[in-house]
Amino acid sequence: MKALILAGGKGTRLRPLTYTAAKQLIPIANKPTIQYGIESIIEAGITEIGIIVGDTRDEVRAELGDGSQFGVSFTYIEQDEPLGLAHAVLLAEEFMDGDSFLMYLGDNIVQNGVKTFVEDFKAHQPNAMVLLNPVPNPSSFGVVVLEGDRVVQLIEKPIDPPTNLALVGVYFFDSTIFTAAKSIQPSKRNELEITDALQWLVDQDLLVKPHVIHKWWKDTGKPADMLEANRMMLENRKASPQILGEVDQLSLVTPTVQIEEGARVINSTIRGPAVIGRDAIIENAYIGPFTSLGANVRVMDAEIENSIVCEGAEIVNVSDRLDGCLLGRGVSILSALRKPKSHSFVLGDNSSVVFFR
Ligand code: TTP
Repeated sequence: MKALILAGGKGTRLRPLTYTAAKQLIPIANKPTIQYGIESIIEAGITEIGIIVGDTRDEVRAELGDGSQFGVSFTYIEQDEPLGLAHAVLLAEEFMDGDSFLMYLGDNIVQNGVKTFVEDFKAHQPNAMVLLNPVPNPSSFGVVVLEGDRVVQLIEKPIDPPTNLALVGVYFFDSTIFTAAKSIQPSKRNELEITDALQWLVDQDLLVKPHVIHKWWKDTGKPADMLEANRMMLENRKASPQILGEVDQLSLVTPTVQIEEGARVINSTIRGPAVIGRDAIIENAYIGPFTSLGANVRVMDAEIENSIVCEGAEIVNVSDRLDGCLLGRGVSILSALRKPKSHSFVLGDNSSVVFFR
C-alpha cells in the first residue's frame, strides 16, 4: 500500500500567509502541519509516499526533502493548477502502479494517527473507504448518507444536510478510483471533486465503506482552525516538555512549557502548554497558554497567549495583551513613544487587524 499527500492548492482562506508560504508548512506547535500527516502515515507502515505539489513546490521540497530524513521515500508529483482532489488523484496513477493507497489532505490533522484505519481497509478490502465524523455544522463539509455498512450518497457542502456525517480528509482507494476520476465532469467551481468520483463508485455498485471516527480531527483551512489545532497539539504532545534554553531566576515557567535550545527567558512568566522556539528571546513578557513561538521570535515588554507566531517575528513594547494571533515570518508589532498618538500599519493584501473593546 502507498500513500498520496496533497500539498498543492491555493489556500485562499489563509491569506495573506499563503501569498508567501505553503499552508501545509504553517507550524502547529512548532511543527509543519503536513508533518503530522507524514508521521502518522509512516507509523501505519507505509514507506512509498507521493506528494502533490503546486505553486509552492520549491518550498515544500526544501522543507521535506526526499523522505530519507523520515526513513521513507517521497515522490513529488506536480499539479500545474489546483483542479480538484480527484484531479490530483489522476496525476498519481503512474506512481500508484496498481497499488491501493491512502490519500491524506496535507492540511488535515487526525488525532492518534491513521494506523487503525489502514488495518481496517486492508482487512475488508473495499473499493474505497472514507472516514466520517459527526459534526455540528455539516453544511461546511462533504456529507455522506449510509445504508448499513455502505455509503450510498455523497453531497458536497449541502444547504440542507441529510446527515451530520462529514468527510474527514483521509481516504482509502483501490485502483477503481482512477476510472471513477476519469468518468466525472468538473463541478461548478471547475474542480474534479473527490465526492463525485466516490459517488461514481457507489453508482457502479462498487463498495465504498464508511469508518466513523469520534476522535478529534481538524481541517486547518482557516486561521481559527489553525489556532484550534495548535491548542489541541500543544495539549496532547506525546514527549514531555524540556527546558533546553536558559531561564533566569526571576522568571516563572510552568512544567508544560517546551523551551528549545538557545532560547532565553528573562524576567518573564510563561504559562503552558506552550512552546518557545530556538534562539527566541522572551524578556519582561508574559506568554500565556496555547502559544507557539517559532525560532528567533522576540517578545519584549509584551503579553501574548493562544497564538501562533512564526520564525523571526517580534512583539515589542505592546501594552495590550495579544490573543488569538496568527503572525507570519518576520512580522513586527511594536509600540514607540511619539506624538501624535496613533496606530501605524503596513499590512499585506487580506491581512486583518481586530481591536477588541
Ligand atoms: P482545500 O483546502 O480544499 O483547498 P485549498 O488549499 O486550495 O484552500 P482554499 O479553499 O482556502 O483556497 O484543499 C485541501 C488540501 O488539498 C490542501 O492541502 C491543498 C490540497 N489540494 C491539492 O493539492 N490540489 C488541489 O487541486 C486542491 C483543490 C487541493
